[in-house]
Amino acid sequence: MTSAKLRKIFIDFFEKRNHTKHAPSSLVPLDDPSVLFTTAGMQQFKQFYTNPDKSKSKRLVTIQPCFRTSDIDEVGDDTHLTFFEMLGNFSFGYTEANRSKSKEKNQENTSYFKEDAIQWAWDFVTSTQGLGIDPARIEVSVFRGEKNIPLDDESIRIWRKIGVPNEKIKLGTREDNFWGPTGLEGPCGPTTELYVDGIEIWNLVFNEYYQDADGNLIPAQYKGVDTGMGLERLLAVLNGKKTVFETELYFDLIEKLRPLGLAKEKERIIADHVKGIIFLINENLEPGNLGREYILRRLLRRVMIIEGVYAQLLALCNLVFEMYQTQYRFNPGVQERLTSILEREWIQFSKTLEKGKVYISKLNTTRLSGEEAFRIYSTYGIPIDAQKDLLGDATVVDSAGFEREYLASFEAHRSVSRAGVAQKFGGHGLITKGGEISSDLSPQEYEKALRNHTATHLLHAALRAVLGEYVQQKGSDVAPERLRFDFTYERALTEEEKKRVEAWVNARIKEDVPVNFTQMDKGDALRSGALAFFPERYPQKCKVYTIGDQGHQISQELCGGPHVTHTSEIGHFAITSEKSSSAGVRRIKAVTSNQY
Ligand code: ALA
Repeated sequence: MTSAKLRKIFIDFFEKRNHTKHAPSSLVPLDDPSVLFTTAGMQQFKQFYTNPDKSKSKRLVTIQPCFRTSDIDEVGDDTHLTFFEMLGNFSFGYTEANRSKSKEKNQENTSYFKEDAIQWAWDFVTSTQGLGIDPARIEVSVFRGEKNIPLDDESIRIWRKIGVPNEKIKLGTREDNFWGPTGLEGPCGPTTELYVDGIEIWNLVFNEYYQDADGNLIPAQYKGVDTGMGLERLLAVLNGKKTVFETELYFDLIEKLRPLGLAKEKERIIADHVKGIIFLINENLEPGNLGREYILRRLLRRVMIIEGVYAQLLALCNLVFEMYQTQYRFNPGVQERLTSILEREWIQFSKTLEKGKVYISKLNTTRLSGEEAFRIYSTYGIPIDAQKDLLGDATVVDSAGFEREYLASFEAHRSVSRAGVAQKFGGHGLITKGGEISSDLSPQEYEKALRNHTATHLLHAALRAVLGEYVQQKGSDVAPERLRFDFTYERALTEEEKKRVEAWVNARIKEDVPVNFTQMDKGDALRSGALAFFPERYPQKCKVYTIGDQGHQISQELCGGPHVTHTSEIGHFAITSEKSSSAGVRRIKAVTSNQY
């Protein structure tokens, strides 16, 4: 069995059962600031469980790339991964009242629940249209119930009806057989899992509850199904391989590493992390010291610290691109970005790495405190996993302590910058897209700031039109006398590119198109393609500013406003400077109307 065939069989099977194939979501969740990455297929559909009418189809099927940081320490053993693909089928909006309806009409707009989900999972795994696995190899687990949540006897009954003998139906605790929610709140419920030869391959979640932010479980008005089956593990099981690392999804990567003579565990870490690196860079992330960017830095440095790997890294990345290019559309320019990020990160890291290694080699300790580990990270840039690698198994590193130190430094950094903002604008500025306009301005100054603010949106659209869609805003500051815009780009713009950007903005000003906003649900706004500098900063109901009219939409961004009402009010736009702001980030300053 190949990975391509497996993906196809899965999708075909559920399409035949009236599921609509849905595109995977990005690895960075759009509308759930409480999670760093997409860790499961259901995440992009979270709102459909409570609001089923928002989804056209009540049955969906996806192949979702996922990234989990929870197991990052375990990568290297036989089973754990950070990056993997999840096969999943989903149903929303089930109620007892529409139960019989759904049975009569096996249609894409009817929901299903335990009965169909379990039957189809069984059919997929055992039938010849699916995987054709001998039923004798299969065991299942079911939630045994606890305090306020009852035993899932309905699932037991369905498994028995299918013919699974009692001794092969195991009862599991809340820890093992209850899933969700992702983030701080959301749908969740009991699960039933399928095991082949003792290996868990499929998790079927029955979302019967909603867990609120205080941790209360509330019976859900609508029930739903969410299933997840890891592609890599399934492929290993089907091909009789002991681990995922022996399947085609890792084999070539590991072969390429063989000449380096590394320990098996190191080879696996590299093969896993290289995928994460590529998929995270494809999300326009840059390595950094906070949040998602810090995770990317951890992956990069943990791989780079292994002797001899840096020289192989590009070749390994190219293998990953080859492996996934038919399945996923990578952003244009991602290979160039990757090359320059690898170089930059290596240059920066190697400046302190040797000193850090010497320091660590002299530590001679069996226990490294969180404080010390954080000091090593901030002094030598060696992330915690790489420190563990250098120290060896004999030394215990206080990861939780490190995490506390790390968060404390993050909080300190945040409150300093908040204080700075409050001081600068007296705490009552008007919020714009990442910057603020002071409300202490004279009417004339205010008008100028409005023009610069709308011009900022046009500039953003122009950069994407001229340089490519992967240009991403990194910051912005609007003042009456000028605007400033930071964005990701690898090199200086040529004179010709600057001219084209200016001409593009001025053409839109000449067209005199309207600027409007609507109040929208943030998730809907992001899904509709509206740009957002920092999605987590916006409230659930937010404003979306659109420049242009129906049929000629120039820009759509989440933004607090305010803006001019028509682009002609901007007058004229000119770039006054374009230079590097930090590694991989360019800064444009520009003026509008008669300010030059
Ligand atoms: N969302 C479930 C999981 O990730 C299916 O296991």
